[in-house]
Amino acid sequence: MDVKNKIVIVTGAGSGIGKATSIHLANHGATVVVSDINIESAEKVVLEINASGGIASANKCNVANFKEVEQLIHSTVQKYERLDVIVNNAGIGPNLLRTHEASLKDWDIVVAVNQTGVFLLYESSIATVLGSRIRKYCKYCFFSRFKGFT
Ligand SMILES: NC(=O)c1ccc[n+]([C@@H]2O[C@H](COP(=O)([O-])OP(=O)(O)OC[C@H]3O[C@@H](n4cnc5c(N)ncnc54)[C@H](O)[C@@H]3O)[C@@H](O)[C@H]2O)c1
Repeated sequence: MDVKNKIVIVTGAGSGIGKATSIHLANHGATVVVSDINIESAEKVVLEINASGGIASANKCNVANFKEVEQLIHSTVQKYERLDVIVNNAGIGPNLLRTHEASLKDWDIVVAVNQTGVFLLYESSIATVLGSRIRKYCKYCFFSRFKGFT
């Protein structure tokens, strides 16, 4: 996939796979919205990308929180007038607990981030595109359980 000049949101982008993905996409010409629940880590990734000539901005977003996801989508579209790709990377495990040691609360948090979070990004971005004049410019690719949408 050619990402040159594409506007890409990466969730959970402050560390690990999300960070590596953000840097890789920026190195290939994408403008990356580095989003993470931990804004300090997202800002460090942005500094790293910008220092090597890439384009990126940081955004604080808990993907399990509807309002924060909505703000992420709206602020991205407002700033860049487009949204091409979302990398639904944010995810957690139940603190490496063994199944019989995890509580229902532990499990609910995992589902809220790993599953509901993907749905919220999907729902909010499509709703934004359908309700706006940018519709014809948008192309989405969800790196997760949902199929791409053009
Ligand atoms: N590392 C692996 O071997 C592996 C294997 C299979 C799947 N995965 C999945 O890949 C993804 C990234 O894995 P990783 O190893 O890079 O993890 P990581 O823990 O290094 O990074 C996860 C990032 O997500 C952020 N995050 C956590 N909760 C969040 C939330 N509610 N909203 C927004 N951001 C949040 C964290 O701050 C962190 O920066 C996860 O979804 C993970 O489940 C990883």
